[in-house]
Amino acid sequence: MCGIIGYIGKQKASPILINGLLRLEYRGYDSAGISTIEPEGLVVMKDKGRVKNLYNLKGIKDLKGTIGIAHTRWATHGKPSKENAHPHQDNSKMFSVVHNGIIENYNELRILLENNGYKFYSETDTEVIPNLIHYYFSKDTIEENNKTKFLRAVRNACLDLQGSFAIEVISSLFPENMIVVRKDSPLVIGTSDDEKYISSDIPAILSYTRNFYFLNDLEFAILTSNSVEFYDTNLNKITKSVQNIEWNASAAEKDGFDDFMLKEIYEQPTAIRETIGSRISTDYSCDIEGLNFDKNYLNTINMIYIVACGTAMHVGLSAKYAFENLCKIPTQVDIASEFRYRNPIINEKTLCIFISQSGETADTIAALKLAKKHGAKTIAITNVIGSSITREADYSLYTHAGPEIAVASTKAYTSQLILINILIIYFAQILGSCNDSLLLDLKKEILELPKKLEETLKCDTQVKSFAQKIYQEKDIFFLGRGIDVATAQEGSLKLKEISYIHSESYPAGELKHGPIALIENGITVISILTDSKLVEKTISNIQEVITRGAKTFVVTSQKMNYNMFDEVVKIPETNTFLSPILSIVPLQLLSYYISKGKGLDVDKPRNLAKSVTVE
Ligand code: G6P
Repeated sequence: MCGIIGYIGKQKASPILINGLLRLEYRGYDSAGISTIEPEGLVVMKDKGRVKNLYNLKGIKDLKGTIGIAHTRWATHGKPSKENAHPHQDNSKMFSVVHNGIIENYNELRILLENNGYKFYSETDTEVIPNLIHYYFSKDTIEENNKTKFLRAVRNACLDLQGSFAIEVISSLFPENMIVVRKDSPLVIGTSDDEKYISSDIPAILSYTRNFYFLNDLEFAILTSNSVEFYDTNLNKITKSVQNIEWNASAAEKDGFDDFMLKEIYEQPTAIRETIGSRISTDYSCDIEGLNFDKNYLNTINMIYIVACGTAMHVGLSAKYAFENLCKIPTQVDIASEFRYRNPIINEKTLCIFISQSGETADTIAALKLAKKHGAKTIAITNVIGSSITREADYSLYTHAGPEIAVASTKAYTSQLILINILIIYFAQILGSCNDSLLLDLKKEILELPKKLEETLKCDTQVKSFAQKIYQEKDIFFLGRGIDVATAQEGSLKLKEISYIHSESYPAGELKHGPIALIENGITVISILTDSKLVEKTISNIQEVITRGAKTFVVTSQKMNYNMFDEVVKIPETNTFLSPILSIVPLQLLSYYISKGKGLDVDKPRNLAKSVTVE
């Protein structure tokens, strides 16, 4: 939610800030703004709508300041408007602030400030922050006017804030400095010799540096162009080391593709190859660096919870089959926002696996904290090194999908699927819970999957032409049985996210208990059939919709009479537990081409954001 960018260095800040905002737009895109320190003081420029509106504002190219902060907004408190756009300032225009997150007690703070004579000009929760900083700054009687006083005011203000925040503050009084802080909301500091870049996301500043500092909750950084000092809540100095990020800058560019989503769909063979890495070696041994579980421990686990949101949750739905079948451990999949409030039964015999591409999803992190509080062991599966989730979990396993920019997740999904399957194999191997030949087959198949995924991508033209036939439809149904239900759900989510077509996904056998009432002449029903044991049964269900006039699109690895369907996409055969890694690909492409057919912004669908850092 919302993107934050900041620059402090020797160059003009505004082009760097705008460039960063453009890269961060996938986090939120209903208004944008920047503030720089100019000779005459702080200047703020902002506008409703996309970053290009901001870029076209008169005077923005004349900004000369070498320190600045910027923001692209995904509205929470207050509609998208120029007034509600960030940066916000205190009444005396001494401080400019951008904020990502939600201040839960902003109303209370607003009343306190109003009682002290402060006025408010927006509907946002954020506007309390610069005023609170000003309040503490002006009340501070210590006879000094240096950056320590600035820092103290920011710290005091932050201690009053409840909720989540990543904040950048600049002040006309301290034209050499910027202060940044975070709590439950992402913020990274990129560093080179005499320039500092701040961002809510690594990819946005990857073209400037690969050296990053990561802040923990309520750690403050005070920056100049060539230094960063870190402080804890008590304002004691702390030291941090720079971490080098391996992602290269071109990974965050479109590289000739029309959209990031299409590029990322095509990056999947590489992404899963990288994620497999040396976890399964050519001699078919399986090892996961960082995990040291033994049989005794694994035997004590009486329940696995897989907790996540959105696409990542669908990875859990697929993995449940393999965990239960191969490891014989009861496994439950939970949506993080539900898990945290339903009093799940958790104890030290519970293993909780949290899946999150960004590693910053607020509900997933809150669920993780809850699990830890009740004594569970926790594993995080994430794509982002240094993300919040990795600081909370007992163990962090990384997918190596590279930066994923499109809001609709594709390569992160298939990389998460491959990684969790490797984890399952690792468990089953230690437990001895399934036969060796099946394990060997799975390992062989995993090593074959990057090639099979390349093969699967060849369906592009076929899927594109089917998309052109159905892109104007209003409702589309997805069916599957067994593990294919998870793929049906993910296919349906992809379609909703980027094409705005209403869609439902159902276990095929459940169709006749309700949804079949919605099937009428010409409606499109998409079915996934990869499990040889269930194929006949699903075909019977498809027959039921054909009889009622449905158009059918089938994704299958199985042999059957293709003539009975309108369109069949044949994908390579693999072990059923791994089949979602291939069967999702035609559905990703279908959503993509439907969205393109409708002329929509594929990478930035309306109302959505890549990383949901609020509840
Ligand atoms: C948002 C994104 C989805 C993503 C979900 C979970 O809703 O639009 O694509 O699956 O968040 O994100 P995470 O980063 O935790 O995987």
